[in-house]
Amino acid sequence: MAIVERRRGHALCAVLLLLMPPVILVPTTFLEEDMILGAVGTAASGAGAGSSKRGANESGTRRPAGGGRYYGLGWKEEIAAMAGRPELAAWLRGVRRRIHERPELAYEEVETSRLVRDELAGMGVEFRHPLARTGVVATLGTGRPPVVALRADMDALPIQEAVEWEHKSRNPGKMHACGHDAHVAMLLGAARILKAREHHLKGSSLNLQTFWYVQGTVKLLFQPAEESGCGAKRMIEDGALEGVEAIFAVHVSHQHPTSIIGSRTGALLAGCGFFKAVIRADDAPEQRRRSADPVLAASSTIISLQSLVSRESDPLDSKARVVSVAVVNGSDIDSEPLVLGGTFRAFSNASFYHLRRRIEEVIAGQSRVHGCAATVDFFEDESFYPPTVNDARMYGHVRRVASELLGPGSYHDVPAMMGAEDFSFYSQAVPAGFYYIGVRNETLGSVHTGHSPYFMIDEDVLPTGAAVHAAIAERFLADYASLTGSASPDLADEQEQ
Ligand SMILES: *[C@@H]1O[C@H](CO)[C@@H](O)[C@H](O)[C@H]1NC(C)=O
Ligand SMILES: *[C@@H]1O[C@H](CO)[C@@H](O)[C@H](O)[C@H]1NC(C)=O
Ligand SMILES: *[C@@H]1O[C@H](CO)[C@@H](O)[C@H](O)[C@H]1NC(C)=O
Ligand SMILES: *[C@@H]1O[C@H](CO)[C@@H](O)[C@H](O)[C@H]1NC(C)=O
Ligand SMILES: [Zn+2]
Ligand SMILES: [Zn+2]
Repeated sequence: MAIVERRRGHALCAVLLLLMPPVILVPTTFLEEDMILGAVGTAASGAGAGSSKRGANESGTRRPAGGGRYYGLGWKEEIAAMAGRPELAAWLRGVRRRIHERPELAYEEVETSRLVRDELAGMGVEFRHPLARTGVVATLGTGRPPVVALRADMDALPIQEAVEWEHKSRNPGKMHACGHDAHVAMLLGAARILKAREHHLKGSSLNLQTFWYVQGTVKLLFQPAEESGCGAKRMIEDGALEGVEAIFAVHVSHQHPTSIIGSRTGALLAGCGFFKAVIRADDAPEQRRRSADPVLAASSTIISLQSLVSRESDPLDSKARVVSVAVVNGSDIDSEPLVLGGTFRAFSNASFYHLRRRIEEVIAGQSRVHGCAATVDFFEDESFYPPTVNDARMYGHVRRVASELLGPGSYHDVPAMMGAEDFSFYSQAVPAGFYYIGVRNETLGSVHTGHSPYFMIDEDVLPTGAAVHAAIAERFLADYASLTGSASPDLADEQEQ
């Protein structure tokens, strides 16, 4: 295999430079990712320690299993150096801007999905497509357990962009106003970093110095329809979580300065549901009473719904529960039905499903009392989002990796928020860690919240986000035994032989 041009590590991206310990400022040499892959591909095919050591030397970055614990540079410095390369930052900006210019709504992410697949193919990363219509799942590593997943959402919003800049949305009435363009770019960045470091996911399975060195598989989920349409649910139905033992995702946030990470354990985002009740005078003549009155039925329903929050609150979730009726549209008793619409929110899974059941019961019960019949729709295929709940260990993993990679002070615990995320479907299925990455930069004017037509981000976040993604996945596999309390499946295989 050809040894190829070595290049010097350039200035690290500003944020990493500020936050990293000085050791990474020592110029390091490393190869172009593709070149590393050439060397590693051969090394990895022979599982023996001898061949992987050869790969290590030739790649210039490879360390024996256990990484930096025994050598000068560890995973932090290596990943930070890779993410700090100006070429990577420029490529990430380019990817993000291409997606930003062509925003697509839920389940219409055709061009975005194609861009994702083209980039993955260019890196030599394998993927599956389509899942949930436009979704893509890329796979790196051994292809064997354990499997850890990282997720990005691809959809935009039906908003007309009001930011005047070179890469303004070219699709009228559509805009990446929630930063999902940045999420896709960061996950593609993680793919690049992880592909270059795939030997760390694939090395020899037993190392005497560190006892064992766990490897496994990283799945990258590019999903459609986060904003509406429950894309995550469809991804799961199409097998995106097969074999997955933990999943992580990031969302950009205006509440934190650029590249600051925030998360919390337990409920992070509320569960959010909508309901629409149609109340009409009961049609059955024998049950029909002169007193049948949809307006009265709706009025009692509204009063009773309020007491769901005041009287049935779980004390631990009391502040969080909200039921609000937003629409009442009535007309003549006999001609048109009365429509009652509203939303409900709760932070615990139990409260959320309890509210859903009680809302249905209250509407049906109060309608019956007033001689009416009601049907209730919860839009469960479009906008029914359970709470996003972080697993305590996966939250701890995010906090630890972010603090180690970016330096102490770059991670903060944040309060739970009322917004909702369809990441909750994953968090219901496997242990999950959801976190924010700051994009606030007053100098640039990046101060507007998501879903604002003035929304913008500080693009300097992109390399940091890619690095955090990659590090979370790689360290999950490296720390698999302690994070999950189970032995490495690979090790178990080996001991059986
Ligand atoms: C492999 O790398 C080690 C440490 O970097 C070095 O001491 C050794 O000479 C290298 N061996 C070869 C064959 O290049
Ligand atoms: C109220 O109901 C009428 C009759 O069904 C309908 O035409 C109108 O659009 C509804 N208004 C709202 C705000 O839903
Ligand atoms: C949430 O509650 C629903 C309904 O009770 C249940 O099916 C689901 O498994 C629960 N999820 C979690 C993570 O507890
Ligand atoms: C904001 O952006 C400017 C211009 O890119 C940069 O110089 C500055 O460091 C950024 N501030 C933060 C807090 O990241
Ligand atoms: Zn959004
Ligand atoms: Zn979003």
